[in-house]
Formats: sequence, structure tokens, C-alpha cells
Amino acid sequence: MSHADDHAGTRRDFLYYATAGAGAVVTGAAVWPLVNQMNPSADVQALSSIRVDVSGLEPGTQLTIKWLGKPVFIRRRTEEEIEAARDVDVSTLPDPEARNANLPDGTPATDPNRALPLGDGSEGASEEWLVMMGVCTHLGCVPLGEAGDFGGWFCPCHGSHYDTAGRIRRGPAPENLPVPPARFEGETEIVLG
Ligand code: FES
Repeated sequence: MSHADDHAGTRRDFLYYATAGAGAVVTGAAVWPLVNQMNPSADVQALSSIRVDVSGLEPGTQLTIKWLGKPVFIRRRTEEEIEAARDVDVSTLPDPEARNANLPDGTPATDPNRALPLGDGSEGASEEWLVMMGVCTHLGCVPLGEAGDFGGWFCPCHGSHYDTAGRIRRGPAPENLPVPPARFEGETEIVLG
């Protein structure tokens, strides 16, 4: 059978997590085998840096990949999602820090500070793209996409609601979903690590 079948167990895990999610999450699960094919073997997952082709992602959909053994959400956001995230007073957030590995500690959690940095070395971000660790900051469950009271992610384990910038808004999770080291390279590739 195909190489992707080697990872059937992993796929099942992700599909399990996605069952309560909306369409975009299912899209992510469907793309998962393609990402696996891009990874020649398990040792690639152990590499600290990987490239992800995101050319197939339309606005309003997301991809879940595995990096350093953990899920990473890559979402191409809609204008509405970006506007909803911009429209929040950072001082009212439970966690006002960006938690973005690409920016200094203590950077405020504005929407641009949560988004993917531009790949050309200049300051600023491509707000359309959000890359975050898919691990709830409470006790480590994998949140569901397009869910919860703020239209972002919802962790069903103990009820943590994240907004469309992955910032914790309600529930026991203490921090925003962390943004890993990541950047755009060229038009279609995101480099993690
Ligand atoms: Fe997510 Fe507890 S692990 S709310």
C-alpha cells in the first residue's frame, strides 16, 4: 500500500480529534496524508526545521501538521477572522502577551504580533497566516478548530475558548496558543523551526 498508510494510526488520532470540528478541520485532516508524503520518514519529524507547502490552502481553511512530535495548526484566515481579532482591546485579554517565538518576550498580543512574520526580513506580518502549536496551554489537549465562543479554537477537555488569533479568551487555559519559530519562504512555503 502507499506510504501514507504507514501512518494510518497517526491519521486516526488526528481524525479523532477532528470529529467535533467544523468543515475546515476536516479539510485539514484530509490534507494530512499529503503532508505525510512530503515527509520521507519518521526521522524527518525529528528534524528541528521543516518546510510545508501551503499552496493548497484557501482562506478559511487550515492544515494540521506534526512538528517535533506535536501538532501545529496552519490557518489561512478570512478577512472576517482578522477583523474580529483586531477588534479586541489587548488589555482585556486573560494573557496580554503575544507568546510569539519570532518576537521578543513581553510583546503585546495584538493581532499582527500573533501572525506569521513576512519572509523577506522586513518588519511586519502577513495577517492572513496564523501558525500556532495545537496544544492547549491548560493541560495539553488538542483544541478543535472553528469552534468555541470566539470563532477560533475550543478545547473540549475543560472548556477553554481561543479566538481567531489563538488567544485564550475564556476557560482555564492560562496562556495564548504559542506561535513557534516560523516564516514564509517564497510564495507557497512556510518554514517551521
Ligand atoms: Fe484544554 Fe484543559 S487541556 S482546557
